[in-house]
Amino acid sequence: MCGIVGYVGPNEPQNFLIEGLEKLEYRGYDSAGVAVNDNGEIKVRKAVGPIANLRKLIGDENLGGHVGIGHTRWATHGGVTVANAHPHTNMDGSLALVHNGTVENYIELKEQLQAEGVRFVSDTDTEVACMLVSKHYKELGDLKEAIDKAASEMEGTYVLVAVAADKPDMLVAHRRNAPLIAAKGKDFNMVASDFCAILKHTKDVYLIENGDTVVLTQDAITIYDEKDQQIERDLMHIGWDVDAADKGEYEHFMLKEIHEQPKGIEETLSRSLTEDNRIKLYGIEMTAEELDKYNKIVIVACGTAYHAGLAGQRVIEKVAKIPVEIDVASEFRYRDPFIDDKTLFIAVSQSGETADTLEALREAKKKGAHVISIVNVVGSSVARESDQVFYTFAGPEISVASTKAYTTQLLCFYMLALYFADIKGTITEEDYADFVEELKAIPAKIEKCFELEPFIKRLAADYYDREQVFFIGRGMDSCVAFEGSLKLKEVSYISSFAIAAGEMKHGTIALMEPRTIVIALATQDALFDKTVSNIQEVRARNAHIISVAKEGNISIEAHSNETMYIPNCRDEVSPLLSVVPLQLYAYFVAKDRKCEIDKPRNLAKSVTVE
Ligand code: AGP
Repeated sequence: MCGIVGYVGPNEPQNFLIEGLEKLEYRGYDSAGVAVNDNGEIKVRKAVGPIANLRKLIGDENLGGHVGIGHTRWATHGGVTVANAHPHTNMDGSLALVHNGTVENYIELKEQLQAEGVRFVSDTDTEVACMLVSKHYKELGDLKEAIDKAASEMEGTYVLVAVAADKPDMLVAHRRNAPLIAAKGKDFNMVASDFCAILKHTKDVYLIENGDTVVLTQDAITIYDEKDQQIERDLMHIGWDVDAADKGEYEHFMLKEIHEQPKGIEETLSRSLTEDNRIKLYGIEMTAEELDKYNKIVIVACGTAYHAGLAGQRVIEKVAKIPVEIDVASEFRYRDPFIDDKTLFIAVSQSGETADTLEALREAKKKGAHVISIVNVVGSSVARESDQVFYTFAGPEISVASTKAYTTQLLCFYMLALYFADIKGTITEEDYADFVEELKAIPAKIEKCFELEPFIKRLAADYYDREQVFFIGRGMDSCVAFEGSLKLKEVSYISSFAIAAGEMKHGTIALMEPRTIVIALATQDALFDKTVSNIQEVRARNAHIISVAKEGNISIEAHSNETMYIPNCRDEVSPLLSVVPLQLYAYFVAKDRKCEIDKPRNLAKSVTVE
């Protein structure tokens, strides 16, 4: 989950590199660095901490040259130090390399290289990759061949980008299971780990495939596939606008993206709703016979995407009457799951680059499953390796804490459930129409939830120092409880905890203290009384109750210290609304705790290592 950027062109690379890294900082921000080939001299500048520290280090220095690479790091091997920061160089400084991912056999390779006299200055697997490329470059004299040879000896998932002092007009990149694009400019070319890094300069990109090696000069992007055959990849035009990856008038991306949810829902819904309000899943069409072939659905994802899947599981089972299993991707592969050609596998991923989810998808395909993915980043690895893709149109999500991706993922599950139910005839026309009307009303209802902001700010001001916060709920509310808890953990570092409300009394209620905050979701009409009983159980033990309920349900106030009301809606779709006050609560608590909201400690936006 590091950020990589490379430039070859008529201008000096350093601003392209640093600005690109600033757009990639959400992918990792432990340290950053650039290497520029200034007409035969490789100049490397690296700093620990945010990109601002790198800018400060370089100051007014002009690094010159026409070729350069940059990197922003999320540490995997070796601590956060300048020595471990990328770019790494070989011993005589004639070659520099940046890397995203992990080299799983780096210790063995390092020992071999040390036995040949190579001396290392860092603890990283990246420096091993650099020294290996350098060794082969000295043997072969060709940078592309050297990278290919090194890649053939390295196991793991990685993108490598290298520059060599005696090649002041080119760079070479290689991709294996980590994201890489090559961007075509007017009179320059770039590589990057993510569209955001190049959007300001060009929107025309090649999606680099696994095993590809790319040779970049100012005038050409030459791509070789894993059989070393020169290949033409499709040139894609990115639809995102530059501002989409900008904070605008918001203090943080997280708040901006919370507020972008109505638009994300509208965008995503409109692409799959016909004039006569039928759900039409372009690219995921299925006949009744095809759908009947599957005896179960398996949803696999991580983090917030997994929480969307929890709600998706309930709504598909309830509406389409199809059995649904769900698992976190990091567990799925290792439990020898029952997957075969009768399994419809749904991978959910905002970035489409999460290694755990990607590997789980590959495992499911190996076992014969049909794979649909719900993804936000067009052309990402998960999308490209799926049989069918259901894109969310949330726009680029920069804040590490996922918000608008979550609600658009939820929406995709609602649309899948209705689509399947319509095919299988498990829903009446009247109920189908009512459900669709509910989904169409969601953007306006989310906007109404924003009216809670002043109240939530006051709650945050009162309780931001409470170190024990529980989220509880039943049914769909329990799915949102897990997401609300993760948001609070991620951005405020509070030891938050989510649990099915009915489960509290089986042990966890022992933790209730007078200062414990319990955020109780009580939006499910069918489960309201049961949820109130659970609230009473914890309130009787002095917990402080902040409840979330539907407008008009004022009976909840008798059991709560404070209540956040959401607009009325069907029980099934309440997660699209009840999550909003929880996102806002997490945001304002983090703000009052003076946390680094968009780039929380220890986290990265896309976890491209297992
Ligand atoms: C969510 O706020 C977290 N940043 C994290 O749990 C994230 O949802 C998870 O890593 C999955 O990412 P993906 O959706 O890009 O696959």
